[in-house]
Amino acid sequence: MDARETVAKMTLQEKASLLSGSDFWHTHAVERLGLREFMMCDGPNGLRKQGNPDQMGRGGSISTVCYPTANAVSACFDVEMVEKMGEVLGAECKRENVSMLLGPGLNMKRSPVCGRNFEYYSEDPFLAGKIAAAFIKGVQSQGVSACPKHFAANNQEFRRMSGNSIVDERTLFEIYLTAFEIMVKDAKPGSIMCSYNQLNGTYLSENKYMLTDVLRNKFGFEGFVVTDWGAGKGPAKGVEAGVDLVMPGGTDEHEKAIIEAVEKGELDEKLVDRAAERILKTFLWTDSVESKGPAESSGATVKADYEFARELAENCAVLLKNNKVLPIKKDKKVLFVGEFAKTPRYQGSGSSHINSAFVSNAVDAAEGRGVSFARGYDTKDVKNSYVLREEAVEAAEDADIIVIFAGLPGSYESEGFDRADINLPAEQNKLIDDLAHLGKKTVVVLHNGAPVSMPWIDSVDAVIDMFLAGDGVGEAAVRLLYGDVNPSGKLSETYPLKLSDNPSYLNFPGDHGNPVYAEGIYIGYRYYEKKRQQVLFPFGYGLSYTEFEYSDIKIDRDKITDKDTVNVSVDVWNVGRYKGKEVVQLYVSENSSRVTRPLKELKGFKKIELEPGEKKTVTFTLDKRSFAYYETSIHDYYVESGDFTVMIGAASNDIRQTVQVNVEGTTELPVCFDRFTAIQDIIDSRKGKEILGPVLEEIFRNSEADADTDASLGEGTAEMMEKMILEMPIINLSSFHMMTAEEIDGILAQING
Ligand code: BGC
Repeated sequence: MDARETVAKMTLQEKASLLSGSDFWHTHAVERLGLREFMMCDGPNGLRKQGNPDQMGRGGSISTVCYPTANAVSACFDVEMVEKMGEVLGAECKRENVSMLLGPGLNMKRSPVCGRNFEYYSEDPFLAGKIAAAFIKGVQSQGVSACPKHFAANNQEFRRMSGNSIVDERTLFEIYLTAFEIMVKDAKPGSIMCSYNQLNGTYLSENKYMLTDVLRNKFGFEGFVVTDWGAGKGPAKGVEAGVDLVMPGGTDEHEKAIIEAVEKGELDEKLVDRAAERILKTFLWTDSVESKGPAESSGATVKADYEFARELAENCAVLLKNNKVLPIKKDKKVLFVGEFAKTPRYQGSGSSHINSAFVSNAVDAAEGRGVSFARGYDTKDVKNSYVLREEAVEAAEDADIIVIFAGLPGSYESEGFDRADINLPAEQNKLIDDLAHLGKKTVVVLHNGAPVSMPWIDSVDAVIDMFLAGDGVGEAAVRLLYGDVNPSGKLSETYPLKLSDNPSYLNFPGDHGNPVYAEGIYIGYRYYEKKRQQVLFPFGYGLSYTEFEYSDIKIDRDKITDKDTVNVSVDVWNVGRYKGKEVVQLYVSENSSRVTRPLKELKGFKKIELEPGEKKTVTFTLDKRSFAYYETSIHDYYVESGDFTVMIGAASNDIRQTVQVNVEGTTELPVCFDRFTAIQDIIDSRKGKEILGPVLEEIFRNSEADADTDASLGEGTAEMMEKMILEMPIINLSSFHMMTAEEIDGILAQING
């Protein structure tokens, strides 16, 4: 069935019916033409398919496997594993007759307290974009459309359905749209979900600039746009802006409004055709691709999916500290403490909440290893925690090593609201502190969807962050603790020392939920590094039981233009005793720039596995975008000519090898200077330098000569004059009798000409 031909056969009413759902999860069928209804489901860390959809989309979902949430998945820095996660989920959708999976979420982590951060990948757009692209490729390889969300600048839960994000153009593109751009270009999603909020005063669901000019015309998106559930506004404006499907459905209101708008001449019927065709193109494509996975679900499939979920969790966990206590040796007497050791927190609340068939817990998973257990705290009844803490301290008497399973309870972080701070519950901090002072080795295992503060960090011997690890959480934690598997995750977001250190702190969630993104491009490590702000754990950080050495960085050319690519390679050795995986990270820094730029930005990463003593050479290819910033005068990315440093290392704060490259930018910025343009800006342009440069040199020579001959002028006069001249509007050369206004106009005409 062809989308265009099918739409051409439809009546206006049939086409209009396709533009909203038949219920909470389905599109409308058009039986007359043999067109079936298509189902879409949340996503993204498991399949939340409701057998019997109720009107609010809650409850009754199938029992299935829950995978690690996005904040964990990004920490694995492993695009192959993430693609496999997409494949496994896509195959499950296909078996369940689900045509579209609502995810992944790739909004940037502007603040660590956004309630939905567990569903988002990173504070770094390059990482988020690459991980999202891998996930989408996996899902779509099974003939199921992904639906990346929430487009765009939807970075908090407070007033998430009405707030107005105020973002300047450079920040919007460099930080908040880059991940979307990368995944659209790399993975071609069949759909995209526009967010609830407004951006610079216009709701995304009516934002033609964002949905058409940027998403389609700039980024090349070819799928259809669906509103977030309930984000649809006036039909005519929405369709015109580029919204195709409005969800949820269940009434004929939208359909009627579309028909009425067409009949009244307020909406061109061709735009209705366009939307219907886009929706059908994606859904009909899903029917044309066979899944490579099993057609029927069986015990074996579920088991295999669970095993993969566990393996993924093991690859995501980050070892944050290890004072020679991990991996735990077999002969040690170990006490597991904490409710989360028995009933772990492993996923977030809200639309991505999975009805797990089976969740592993650490106490059961450690069976046979001689581990005892004390509950330590009560997440529901805090008063009970005092007694439980005393019991845990008593139980610890016999132990060599105490492992405390701590983290954020579900009520702390969720879709729908933001966290108040980044603290763990007070009773958990107290428990950790008390146990850490018993003179025993203590290890903390964390379960959290976003960064937490760790006031006890100096008193404990080791910390493993499991994040929200999905169904395999307990088994994965035990296997990591005992060294059956070597930790290899790296932080995909900075852990600040305290919430007020975060750059968005003064503008989050904004007055009346209208946040001004005043920190601009400086989110996450871009800010902390530039401010030399101390953090708890930096972006890209994570330890291993083995050690890696980096050597022999090579670049295949040291001078390129921004139309070329350049290859950078480095050797990585496993010099420790364990087999392990390393995330090799590449950052780029411009040595001097006319505009404000971060000290470094991630432009490449690769995860490799090495046996002890083994070496691998890792190669990265860099292109224009690795060196560019978004220049608002051309509304595009731009490379300034100059020297750049390419840095390769094990974390943003652990650069092991660097190399220089000179890049020549080939784009000329448009020049339109007037009498009030600063002289510096004029000579920063090629033509300005050519024409005004010699005139200025003459002026500077004269002022130097004056300074040399006139003893009454103070030291530094010539330098001061030079700086002052460069910073003043060009017309001031006439005020100070260095040129006439006519001569200045003549020069400007030549440059602008
Ligand atoms: C959420 C989306 C979700 C949708 C359907 C919305 O409230 O923001 O992420 O996909 O509901 O459940």
